[in-house]
Amino acid sequence: MPEQTHNEAVRAQFRIQAQSFGTSGFAVAGLDWIVAALEPSSKDNVLDVAAGAAHVGRALAPHVTHVSALDLTPEMLHQGQRLATEAGLRNITFQQGDAVALPWLDGQFDLTVCRLTLHQVADPAAVVREMVRVTRRGGRIGVVDLTASDDPVTTAEADRIERLRDPSHGTTLTAHQIHDLLTAAGAPVVSVERHDQPVDVEDWMARTGTKPLIRDVIRERFAHELSGGQPTGLRPYLDSEGTLWLTHTWSMTIARKP
Ligand SMILES: C[S@@+](CC[C@H](N)C(=O)[O-])C[C@H]1O[C@@H](n2cnc3c(N)ncnc32)[C@H](O)[C@@H]1O
Repeated sequence: MPEQTHNEAVRAQFRIQAQSFGTSGFAVAGLDWIVAALEPSSKDNVLDVAAGAAHVGRALAPHVTHVSALDLTPEMLHQGQRLATEAGLRNITFQQGDAVALPWLDGQFDLTVCRLTLHQVADPAAVVREMVRVTRRGGRIGVVDLTASDDPVTTAEADRIERLRDPSHGTTLTAHQIHDLLTAAGAPVVSVERHDQPVDVEDWMARTGTKPLIRDVIRERFAHELSGGQPTGLRPYLDSEGTLWLTHTWSMTIARKP
């Protein structure tokens, strides 16, 4: 899909999802883990790339000098601005833009972060190059995202299901691929951590407004795996109350620009 068309699909999707990026549930998952690993300092000038409602940026804001939050989708930015105002945060600013062409000079930021977006964009290498470019020498780059298994067949099936649910889903990268994008962009990786994130399947499909017939296809595919069929790569399970969950693997990769 050409990049502009892909960006239109992203905006259409996140216009629907913006309200669900609130103060609980999926949207706040992993924030304590991420903030602790990024070790923010009071002198840091931070950029949150493809920030959405800036959950990471707002979690970092009390620890740093300033946060800039950039995203393609105005409704996500409005949601972030509203939540920042409610929380009394005065050191975060919101700006619409494309992560493949960041509107900042080289070396402007001490810490550049991006959560849950590389799998969404048409050109993840271009996003990572831009993140490294705008980070100063000695600064850190943190990438948190869904992570694919090393088996290409399982990964392709997981992406197929993700796209059924959200047509703007791109390609989930492996931890090695994220590592290599950062290294190729000139920022050697200093740490990689993983985290299993359980996701309530009905809530996951409701957030994207997935059509009822497609929801049935997805439920049936998970049921097939649960009865011994081919793995989906999304590790579904039923809890003791019969609620269907899947398991996303998140990775957090931190690099430093020499
Ligand atoms: C799954 S949401 C994650 C939002 C946020 N990073 C978070 O962790 O809550 C993906 C976000 O990426 C944004 N996005 C996708 N492609 C983008 C691009 N090329 N430039 C800027 N934002 C983009 C979408 O608008 C959406 O807000």
